[in-house]
Amino acid sequence: MTLSVPGPAEALLREHCELQVLGEILAPERYREAIRGADALLPQLRDRIDEAALDAAGPHLQVVSNYAVGLDNIDIPACTKRGVYVGNTPEVLTDATADLAMTLLLAAGRRVVEADHEMREGRYAGWRPDYLLGQEVTGATLGVIGFGRIGRAVARRAALGFSMRILAYDPGGVARQGDLDVEGCSLERLLMESDFVSCHVPLTEETHHLIGAAELASMRRSAILVNTSRGPIIDEAALVEALQKGVIAGAGLDVYENEPQMAPGLAACTSTVLLPHLGSATGKTRAAMGELAARNVLAVLAGGAPIACANPEVAQRP
Ligand code: DGY
Repeated sequence: MTLSVPGPAEALLREHCELQVLGEILAPERYREAIRGADALLPQLRDRIDEAALDAAGPHLQVVSNYAVGLDNIDIPACTKRGVYVGNTPEVLTDATADLAMTLLLAAGRRVVEADHEMREGRYAGWRPDYLLGQEVTGATLGVIGFGRIGRAVARRAALGFSMRILAYDPGGVARQGDLDVEGCSLERLLMESDFVSCHVPLTEETHHLIGAAELASMRRSAILVNTSRGPIIDEAALVEALQKGVIAGAGLDVYENEPQMAPGLAACTSTVLLPHLGSATGKTRAAMGELAARNVLAVLAGGAPIACANPEVAQRP
């Protein structure tokens, strides 16, 4: 296990295994050294589990149980090839992450951080009709890019809580949502018609820089872009330029292309709300993620597959 996590995970693991907590994110070479001979790994999203790491862990390795729902730090085909299960933590973080996406949407749309600075820095000189005008949220159109669990949870909050019209784009298609009125459409149309755009696709080769200069240019000048998925979905340098030139009105970001760094110029864009990757950061959710990640490990060590499994085909291997 790379880092201690809140909740029962460590106690659960210690009941059944010899647990080593590394206590820090190690550079790849030191990480490879530290995991030699492990039966199971419980990495964080900053650990790269690639061929070299799998080779270093060696033939006893049975499961890589990521402490995250995102799996872009793990070479899943390389794990599958070796018969190593990959687990992750879906479901338990959906609400916390969707809540944070809404927080960013509201905060960026209503210029909450800029306004907070006005107060703290003593610039508020009294009420004025044209002071810090933002974007109306209720009744606006929200474009949801990526209509998986978190995208759907954001759509639900926006539609039911704020009467927003929902457009959705998903590379795998957008299924009907029962009581929820959602219109599936192309990415192009979503970008052109949305007042707010929220990104919820996993990071893959196909989604890398899904939103670049051309896509930003096709958005409304009043639009707000929100990202709580993975930073490289958006070409961050292009976003900075778009914000500087007023191509779009603002952005609410929780993730960055080269975390923990931000693209030059981003911090100076006052129309942004910038958070340090906090999507799942509530005590309850982080504990639930730990418990699921631990149970994924224990399920494999007991001869089964992870409860949340990214490569169930490992079971079919001879
Ligand atoms: C994830 O789970 O992928 C988030 O980025 C961290 O909770």
